[in-house]
Amino acid sequence: MTEPKRIVVVNGPNLNLLGKREPHIYGTRTLADLEQDVRAKARDLGVTVSFFQSNDEGAIIDFLQKEAPGALGIVINPGALSHYSLALYDCLTAVNVPTVEVHLSNIHAREEFRSKSVTARAARGVIMGLGFAGYGMAIEYLVKQ
Ligand code: DQA
Repeated sequence: MTEPKRIVVVNGPNLNLLGKREPHIYGTRTLADLEQDVRAKARDLGVTVSFFQSNDEGAIIDFLQKEAPGALGIVINPGALSHYSLALYDCLTAVNVPTVEVHLSNIHAREEFRSKSVTARAARGVIMGLGFAGYGMAIEYLVKQ
């Protein structure tokens, strides 16, 4: 039986604080608002979504190992894990599902340490600086690729 078309959307550490956290950078809308936008976009494109957020690197890796196989693609905002998590990079490489990395902010326009993403190497592409809109664009790419 073929699985219905599905996209995996993952948000890493501190993205549960969206709306409260540095609103001048990340905006005033919440993670629940983001989930609503993502589900609406997926519905329009005729796909389902596995949506997940965790502050725990291991929980994210466990989730991806379980949910990514068979999915059309992964949209991931790894948060600060982008800058150092070789374990998450290895996981994205291992599951071998087309991946788009998303950042709400433009990581090249901020502190120097943010400009390097070790996880981006496992991604088809990276969308940054466009806020919530980046997730919708990533989903559209993965569905239409
Ligand atoms: C972020 C950028 C990261 O540097 C930061 O650690 C985050 C959010 C973004 O969406 O802009 O947590 O990934």
